[in-house]
Amino acid sequence: MSDDVEAKIQQAIANPQNMGEMSDADSVGTVGSPDCGDMLRMWLKFSEKDGQKVIDKASFQSFGCQTAIAVASMATEMLAGKTVEEAKELSSEQLSEPLGPLPPMKIHCGQMVEGALKEALDAENAEASAAPAVEDQPETLVQSFGAGGGEMKKGKIKVVLQD
Ligand code: FES
Repeated sequence: MSDDVEAKIQQAIANPQNMGEMSDADSVGTVGSPDCGDMLRMWLKFSEKDGQKVIDKASFQSFGCQTAIAVASMATEMLAGKTVEEAKELSSEQLSEPLGPLPPMKIHCGQMVEGALKEALDAENAEASAAPAVEDQPETLVQSFGAGGGEMKKGKIKVVLQD
């Protein structure tokens, strides 16, 4: 990893933004990486602006990986004010852009953030038909791990392992 990217990650880790569970979230997405076993969860809260649904705020929880925490911290800041459509278009490269290009072995860290975001956005879409209730999610990622490996299901939580 370049010294510049490493320094930016350390800066983000020193003061991560929007880290922690959001008790009043409208939707939540959780993904796990088969590459390293890490998991990341993202909560989204929506509001209406000019007749459009926008992300009011986003927060995240992650285990261990500093790069994923740094990307998620920056991504949650970037997401505030974006419409659902704009958020869906964001790639992992765009979400991790403030850090600079991630080295190959860390690209999946950014993809995990993108995956959690997409899962949360999908959950929000599903809400119109059959809502996966936020309150039915395990409270912590540790509890999610307790649900087992592979594609894990516990109650209404579905943890999607990325390809
Ligand atoms: Fe796996 Fe970062 S090393 S998410």
